[in-house]
Amino acid sequence: MGAKATLYRGMAGALRALDQRGVRLRYPYPDRLMLEQRILPAIAGRDDMKRILMVGCGWYTHYYPGLLGDDAEVTTLEIDPAKRAFGARRHIVANLTELDAHFGPGELDAVLCNGVLGWGLNDHDDIERAFGASVTALRGGGLLLLGWNDKAPYNRVSPADISALQGLEAVTVPGLEAHRVIALPRNQHCFQAFTRPQSN
Ligand SMILES: C[S@@+](CC[C@H](N)C(=O)[O-])C[C@H]1O[C@@H](n2cnc3c(N)ncnc32)[C@H](O)[C@@H]1O
Repeated sequence: MGAKATLYRGMAGALRALDQRGVRLRYPYPDRLMLEQRILPAIAGRDDMKRILMVGCGWYTHYYPGLLGDDAEVTTLEIDPAKRAFGARRHIVANLTELDAHFGPGELDAVLCNGVLGWGLNDHDDIERAFGASVTALRGGGLLLLGWNDKAPYNRVSPADISALQGLEAVTVPGLEAHRVIALPRNQHCFQAFTRPQSN
């Protein structure tokens, strides 16, 4: 195991131990609180959202799978092998562009993809492949939650420019009142939600 993976494993162990003692280290920013306290609990409350993929992990996301409810089957996917330590029990080390190697068509109820578009997933062709595979993996009526920063240099490709998303329907972000919500004005962190049409 490399030095980074060893470090992350130690960090994840310490974070989980603190968590068990009721001390949760987290970012206190409004966009994080919106995701953690409104969006993810609203998804957890839905009976039709149980097979869930979360894309991209960090030290501050290690407890996110637990926010989706005890009965959810959450898989995390992350391109950096060292970040496995912050992932769910079901974890895939892969590029989102290769999602079709891991999930068949219609196998997922939701894909939650926050902070990946523009944060490593930057090349337009890769973005098309990644979201094309995500849409294919969603069942009809499945949810794609996209969190992204509408601010340079993160917004070189915006959701409106992604052909793979064009067949989706805009829906209200779970727990919020609009399809597109700016969660933090200073970095233009937006949440947007889409559903795959039943007939698609
Ligand atoms: C800014 S972090 C966001 C983490 C988390 N999703 C969140 O809610 O904050 C971006 C993460 O996405 C990962 N990532 C970037 N491009 C990716 C790709 N094409 N496939 C899978 N993971 C990717 C990075 O390694 C990094 O850990």
